[in-house]
Amino acid sequence: MFRTGSRRTPDTGPAPEALRLVKVSKTYGTDDSAVTALDDVTLSLGRGTFTAVMGPSGSGKSTLLQCAAGLDRPDSGIVRVDGTELTGGSEAELTRFRRGRVGFVFQQYNLLETLTVAQNTVLPLKLAGRRVDRRRAREVLTQVGLGDRLGHRPDQLSGGQRQRVAIARALVTEPRVIFADEPTGALDTRSARDVLRLLQEAVRVHGRTVVMVTHDPVAASYADSVLFLADGRLAGRLDAPTPDAVAERLAHLGDDMMAGV
Ligand SMILES: Nc1ncnc2c1ncn2[C@@H]1O[C@H](COP(=O)(O)OP(=O)(O)OP(=O)(O)O)[C@@H](O)[C@H]1O
Ligand SMILES: [Mg+2]
Repeated sequence: MFRTGSRRTPDTGPAPEALRLVKVSKTYGTDDSAVTALDDVTLSLGRGTFTAVMGPSGSGKSTLLQCAAGLDRPDSGIVRVDGTELTGGSEAELTRFRRGRVGFVFQQYNLLETLTVAQNTVLPLKLAGRRVDRRRAREVLTQVGLGDRLGHRPDQLSGGQRQRVAIARALVTEPRVIFADEPTGALDTRSARDVLRLLQEAVRVHGRTVVMVTHDPVAASYADSVLFLADGRLAGRLDAPTPDAVAERLAHLGDDMMAGV
């Protein structure tokens, strides 16, 4: 069984955590071909926060998200989502947890082309064995501005609209944490802004927690804070990020690490 946190003291204790990683490491391959994608990462994110994750290509951002979301397992360390430890449970438990409590948005939408917009949206409810009703599909699609597209197929939509369906799909189960891996990477400026505003609204209006990987300092500035990764390690944090401050930090990422060499 998963272990559920006992430190639930909303009135007195520290702010409840949506996500906690303790000494999480992940290596791909073995021996000569081994690549350490995550190296002893410890972090904690409060509920109702919007965090961007940035860093050079190959620095471990996607691996971090996959391990945090329970899509992949770290080699060592602990992952806790909304007070429940993901590491240590069986595969079936992990899948059940993920379907109920976590939403994921990918760069390439990952919609099923043969299903309608409404069917794509409610798929996570179906997979979780929950009641699927068309009203819920309409409600969540209206929230993302696609209330009039329920019967359309993904190939009848623009990239920005597809990504909004993917966001509706991530919101439909009312997950505690939404993970997004470069959700605006394939979008034009305006569609990107729509997507970022929806993620921001999920946090500010609905109290969800969002963790978003991005390469774009403007996208990162929609978040409450930015975590920087370099070579699989945390390499800094920036609160209340502006695009300029983010770009500046990115440009100097790794300086500290090189300083002692
Ligand atoms: N399935 C895999 N098998 C082997 N190596 C992998 C695998 N997935 C990732 N890696 C390696 O782990 C490291 C971290 O990869 P990851 O995809 O997490 O980086 P990233 O920061 O998301 O990069 P990008 O910005 O290019 O998406 C890289 O060196 C990558 O080559
Ligand atoms: Mg990546």
